[in-house]
Amino acid sequence: MAEESITVTDNRTGKQYTIPIKDGAIHAADINKIKTGPDDFGLMPYAPAFVWTASTKSKVAFIDGDKGILEYRGYPIQDLAEKSTFLETAWLLLKGELPKKDELAKFTDEVTHHTFVHENVKKLLDGFHHDAHPMGILVSTVAALSTFYPDAKNIHDPEVRWSQSVRLLAKMPTIAAWAYRHSLGLPYVHPDNELNYVQNFLHMMYRMTEQRYKPHPAIERAFDVLFILHADHEQNCSANAMRGIGSSHADPYVTMAGAAAALYGPLHGGANEEVLKMLAEIGHVDRVPRFIEKVRNKEALLMGFGHRVYKNYDPRAKIIKRIADEVFEVTGRNPLLDIALELERIALQDEYFINKKLYPNVDFYSGLIYQAMRIPVAMFPVMFAIGRTAGWLSQWNELLTDPDQKIARPRQLYIGHRERKYVAMAQR
Ligand code: SDX
Repeated sequence: MAEESITVTDNRTGKQYTIPIKDGAIHAADINKIKTGPDDFGLMPYAPAFVWTASTKSKVAFIDGDKGILEYRGYPIQDLAEKSTFLETAWLLLKGELPKKDELAKFTDEVTHHTFVHENVKKLLDGFHHDAHPMGILVSTVAALSTFYPDAKNIHDPEVRWSQSVRLLAKMPTIAAWAYRHSLGLPYVHPDNELNYVQNFLHMMYRMTEQRYKPHPAIERAFDVLFILHADHEQNCSANAMRGIGSSHADPYVTMAGAAAALYGPLHGGANEEVLKMLAEIGHVDRVPRFIEKVRNKEALLMGFGHRVYKNYDPRAKIIKRIADEVFEVTGRNPLLDIALELERIALQDEYFINKKLYPNVDFYSGLIYQAMRIPVAMFPVMFAIGRTAGWLSQWNELLTDPDQKIARPRQLYIGHRERKYVAMAQR
């Protein structure tokens, strides 16, 4: 077996360096040993946006972008979407193993009994304008929970980390539903502990005068699967934010508020909202070729297409497309679906997209389903955040128990001025 290393020659000095390869990577510290002399700081890898660099080792999610593979703790996403539930998947992501029956029952009970939020949260929500974007409300309210649970700062205690993880998983649907109710001027609906995770969320979202809101089973299952599909995705932008903030040992509430803020961006979790706006703007199947032309001319992005890692069809998008059919059976077909299907048909055979390896990602079809399920467009990234809470907390827990990790503090390549003389105002 050939030695797991590379040998490089620094042509500035003629010196050779043999750098070990571990887990398919070379360590930046070994690159830093390449110096021209004792006063040289040493070489660094330059990786804007971390492209082609690994910031951590992880066992949470595995993605093979070329083959379109996604696994949570080694379990293929297709199996989990078909056979699991969101809470079972959340346990899997957090603990690394599928739960036994009694473990899942206990976990479900813990989550169910933490769905209430402090009544003062209502005063916080009432401070927002009626048309405040629900992601702005979500980010603020998750951060505010930090003030209700000061013990959450004891992040080195695994029991504390677990109880805060349960609280966040349990309260995200409540905050999300109340943000929605606030936008409509409707009274907040308290959690109902007789209901399961998804039923309770929909009950808090949609109950009016009836005693208990009862979703159609196909709709209930669709939400569960959508939460599973959005649960984790290794070192995406918001997971990186969770790790970056978490590395300073901030409490999990303000840390996750930062992750949710990253998710809000239109290039990340905000894309599903942008997809619906794009489809509505196109307006008709006949106008798809013209829009594709705009994308080719770089006048617009094809929202819901492309991915930093997937250079093949996002496996989640395939599953979501199948769920769409099941949901539309119940809700009626979303007319924007025809535009989306035509966009996909043309893009998948168009040189521009083929050469750039642009395929539908998780956001391309999810918005169509949410819209058909009466979720307002502005709530789409909030739906993403409910599912991704499991992943953010799994990444955060892994960060805090990883001996390789410390406070995140990248270096830079300074290209600015040096040692300039101060110039008095009269001379400027
Ligand atoms: C999510 O990281 C994750 O895992 C994220 C996520 C998760 O689960 O956490 O999967 C969820 O965020 C999915 C992505 C949702 N965002 C969008 O759908 C927005 C549209 N997509 C693009 O903005 C883009 O594809 C990104 C941001 C998703 C990825 O961008 P990269 O990897 O930085 O690639 P790039 O921007 O450098 O693009 C490479 C080329 C460029 O052209 P050139 O400059 O080489 O000529 O492809 C082009 C881009 O212009 N391109 C697109 C495009 N995406 C990339 N052109 C048109 N439409 C697009 N959607």
